[in-house]
Amino acid sequence: MTEHDGATDGRADANRELDAGRSDARERDEADPLSDYRDQFDLPDAYYMDGNSLGPISDAAEASLQRAVDQWREQGIRGWTEADPPWFWYGERLGEELAPLVGADPAEVVVGNSTTINIHTLIGTFLDAVERRDGPTADRGVLVNDLDFPTDHYAIRAQLRQRGLDPDEHLHLVESRDGRTIETDDIVAAMDDEDVGIVFMPSVLYRSGQLFDVERITEAAHDRGILAGFDLAHSVGVVPHALSDVGVDFAVWCGYKYLNAGPGAVAGLYVNERHFETTPALAGWWGHDKETQFEMNLEFTPAADAGAWQAGTIPVFSAAPLFGALETVNDAGIDAIREKSIGLTGYLIDLVDEHLTDRGVTIGTPRDPDRRGGHVALEHPEAMRISEALRDREIVVDFRPPNVIRVAPVPLYTGYEDVHAVVETLAEIIDEKRYERYDPAGDVT
Ligand SMILES: Cc1ncc(COP(=O)(O)O)c(C=O)c1O
Repeated sequence: MTEHDGATDGRADANRELDAGRSDARERDEADPLSDYRDQFDLPDAYYMDGNSLGPISDAAEASLQRAVDQWREQGIRGWTEADPPWFWYGERLGEELAPLVGADPAEVVVGNSTTINIHTLIGTFLDAVERRDGPTADRGVLVNDLDFPTDHYAIRAQLRQRGLDPDEHLHLVESRDGRTIETDDIVAAMDDEDVGIVFMPSVLYRSGQLFDVERITEAAHDRGILAGFDLAHSVGVVPHALSDVGVDFAVWCGYKYLNAGPGAVAGLYVNERHFETTPALAGWWGHDKETQFEMNLEFTPAADAGAWQAGTIPVFSAAPLFGALETVNDAGIDAIREKSIGLTGYLIDLVDEHLTDRGVTIGTPRDPDRRGGHVALEHPEAMRISEALRDREIVVDFRPPNVIRVAPVPLYTGYEDVHAVVETLAEIIDEKRYERYDPAGDVT
């Protein structure tokens, strides 16, 4: 027997072991209290592991969208006041439904705009608020980190520039030590820079999936007179929050990821009630006091709650699916969702450790469940081409440069056996070098 035969035998043993693990996955699925929710979703592919980018359609989301379409057909303009609920109040009603998911009072949450626009309006609002509080020489730098999703920085830089503040001087970056995660101690230490007036961090990093300590960051900020805001795009719907209890000043999030409200769905925002008197930076008639909005006064009277941060007319068809989608999430319960999410991501990490480490795959996500959001980052030098090969096997993941495959086993429609199948397929693709069939632009060659 040659050395090569020995290696092949070893691999065959490993594959047999991996294959044998499927029954364990099946048992986990049988014990899963959320397993039935999968039937309520239409998954476009056999294994949909990309719900942290775009959640799939559910029966309930489709029905609530269809209801709005029917109301448009049957009621026309009367739908603004006579639809159930009236379109006019969609932002507020959806805010009420969302409030328990983020741990806030219903008045503190509203739905409107996109996440990027909500970052613009809230950062702008609080830059102005700090200036009003501390005077014209107020320290108004914004603390972010160098692993953020880019739109956050684009928006904050623009808001700084509009106030005559040079972003190169006033946008402060906490640097990652390892290129994957940000240390809370480093965030807190960076707050000692006198210029910092606002800290704006993600709840979960979009690439590595690291979950931030929202409470500690907020407390440290407040101890120094700094306001604390968060981008919750990668946590709302999969990780519970307690924004009001913690005293977070403001937050934003997307409706199309774990909330499953559809492509381009309307976004959500939270403003702590102690800021309700603050003037929104991007004022618009949809943020006007609803009781007098149609008096058409040229002077802006903001709503007395988070509703003031809406700007223009709610996009009804980009909001309607959220009603149904939230019914499903709230019915399952965010605590049960989080528990299963930790189970699925932990199982994925264990399988990767066991079967893919010697195939060159590294885990880029914190192993401590308290520091992990809903997805796992798998790192491999061929991540891009492997992602393509997975897609051709009906496993949808996404690639984030330079070397990350993001795998999101979303609890409402993913089981342990699905996770097992992903790992098994990855092993096969790597062993057989199937990714070599794809060129670096992502096409099959
Ligand atoms: C962390 C984060 N913030 C913001 C956005 C973008 O928000 P939008 O394009 O909906 O404005 C994304 C999109 O993926 C994101 O991941």
